[in-house]
Amino acid sequence: MKELNDNNEVKNFLEDIKFDEFSINKKMDNINSRLKKYIEKNILPEYNLNDKGHDLKHIEYVLKRAFELSKGYDINDDMLYTCVCFHDVACHVNREKHEILSANKAKNDKFLNEYFSSEKMNVITEAIEDHRASLEYIPRNIYGKILSTADRKVEVKEYLKASISFEINNKPNILKSECIENSYEFAIKKFGKNGYAISKTYIEDFRYKNFLENMWYLIENKNLYTKLANIIYEQVIDTICNT
Ligand SMILES: [Fe+2]
Repeated sequence: MKELNDNNEVKNFLEDIKFDEFSINKKMDNINSRLKKYIEKNILPEYNLNDKGHDLKHIEYVLKRAFELSKGYDINDDMLYTCVCFHDVACHVNREKHEILSANKAKNDKFLNEYFSSEKMNVITEAIEDHRASLEYIPRNIYGKILSTADRKVEVKEYLKASISFEINNKPNILKSECIENSYEFAIKKFGKNGYAISKTYIEDFRYKNFLENMWYLIENKNLYTKLANIIYEQVIDTICNT
C-alpha cells in the first residue's frame, strides 16, 4: 500500500502543468510579425548553445508564464516578448554574469533600437538585468517583476532537471549520488524555509506558492526527493546521449 502511495506521489510530481493555451496563443498572435521573425531567426537559435535548463524549451515556458502573469497589468506584449526572448541568451557565455551580458546584447541590437523608442529600450534592458532570483534589489519596472517571477521554476521536475543538468555540465564525470545530493543541498539553500528565493514575490503567483509547498514537502521527505531525482537524472543523461 505504501509503495502504491509513493508511486502515485511520484506520478503527481512528474505531471505537466496546464496553461490556458487559447489565451496564450492569442497573445502570441498579437506580437508584431516583423519583431517575431527577427527574434526567431537571429536570437532564439543561440539558445541551442545553452545548458538544458536555459534552452529554447525554457524560453517557451517563461513566455507562457509571463503572458499568464501579465493579466491585469497594462503591458506592451511586444516588450514583454522581447524581454523573455533575450533574458538568458548569454548563459552559454558566462552563467554568473548572464543577465548583464544578455541585457547588453539587447541594448546593442540594431533591430531593437530601430523598433523600440529609447525609453522602451531602457525598460527592456533594465528588466533583463533585474531578472535573477538572487538579485539584491526589487526589479525596477513591471517587466522585470513579471520576467523574474515567470523565470522561476514552478514545477519540481523542472527544478530537478535544471539543477542536475547544471551539475553534469560543470563536472561531466560527477557520480549520480553526488549529483543528486548537490541538487538536494541547493534546493534547501534556494527554497528551504530560509532560502534566498522564497521571500521575493514581486507579483501574485499561485503556481509559485504551490511549488514552494511541494519543495518543502520533498525537503522533509528526502527519500521521495531522491526517487524523483533518480528518474530525472536518467532523463537528463538520455537527452545528453541522444544529442
Ligand atoms: Fe530564465
